[in-house]
Amino acid sequence: MQIQPRVFSGMQPTGSLHLGNYLGAMVNWIEMQKTHDCIYCVVDLHAITVWQDPVELKSAIRQVTATYIAAGLDPKKSILFNQSQVSAHAELAWVFNCVARLGWLNRMTQFKEKAGKDREQASVGLYAYPNLMAADILAYRATHVPVGEDQKQHLELARDIAQKFNNDFGKEIVEHGFADGIFFPQPEPVITGPATRVMSLRDGSKKMSKSDPSDLSRINIMDDADTIAKKIQKAKTDPEPLPADKDGFAGRPEAENLVGIYAALTGEPVEKVLGDYGGQQFSAFKKALAEVATEKVGRIGDEAKRLMDDPAEIDRVLADGSARARVIAAPIMDKVKDIVGFVRS
Ligand code: TYM
Repeated sequence: MQIQPRVFSGMQPTGSLHLGNYLGAMVNWIEMQKTHDCIYCVVDLHAITVWQDPVELKSAIRQVTATYIAAGLDPKKSILFNQSQVSAHAELAWVFNCVARLGWLNRMTQFKEKAGKDREQASVGLYAYPNLMAADILAYRATHVPVGEDQKQHLELARDIAQKFNNDFGKEIVEHGFADGIFFPQPEPVITGPATRVMSLRDGSKKMSKSDPSDLSRINIMDDADTIAKKIQKAKTDPEPLPADKDGFAGRPEAENLVGIYAALTGEPVEKVLGDYGGQQFSAFKKALAEVATEKVGRIGDEAKRLMDDPAEIDRVLADGSARARVIAAPIMDKVKDIVGFVRS
């Protein structure tokens, strides 16, 4: 049971995916399929850490799966599945609840942001969320985790949990045949590309997010061409023309964000985009940006909508992916139980 290079990542099925999810994470997921064994999850257990309407949740799980496939994830090559169909996630999360320390979770900035002022009313699941995330990755002993910048702290926690488990059970890990005393790898965050943190279209200091009350703040993958064009046209900018080089972005987060999105969508370096548009007004640039965004996002959205017409086929993909995921996770979970000292019969 050697540790092999393996990729794991996931997205929450809470509403439509947006351009930040696509550019920050999914573009790398698609690329990594070419070189690695990849497991991509629809993290429905994570979604219910805040209340979800059951009918909408079901639909969102299928919609995220359809978006994965439409964007270019290949269900024959990679494993695509929803988390709740593989019990190892919840089982390992419980073990990690007993490994992670309260002090570690108290430092998680995402919990503080999501729970807001009324922390007493936040679910226990929202608080323990990072332990489940560590379990997602380590149930497959995954080594690489492509995510956006905002997940960095959670990944650090997953590494700490892996290390503490290896330390706490060092003797047992060796006794169970892992001579180097390492059962869980230290998963590497893969946070690369020109758009690891896509910002809100309404406020360049806030990240693009599903939970922003203004729909104008984000481009949803399911938006139609007119909506995308309208959102880009209304995107906040400043009165200056576009800068000629990157230094000119100082104090201009909205300009930097729009140029970054353009660069990420076209695959051109930011310098080249500024070479082409530096000195011009935003109105011309926004037209060009709307065109590339509509082309790219529109194509994925259209294909996802087409796939959504056949929910039985999506469920079949998820069933197949879940079965393949279980085959990998089950023996790892058995070893965890042996190492921890549970009786298995
Ligand atoms: P989630 O569902 O919030 O986001 C999914 C992915 O999209 C990235 N992302 C962004 N990237 C750039 N700019 C943005 N504005 C932006 N918004 C979101 C996120 O970084 C993420 O990669 N906890 C995770 C889901 C998860 C997970 C895991 C990820 C659960 N278990 C195990 C990796 C491994 C989350 O809530 O992502």
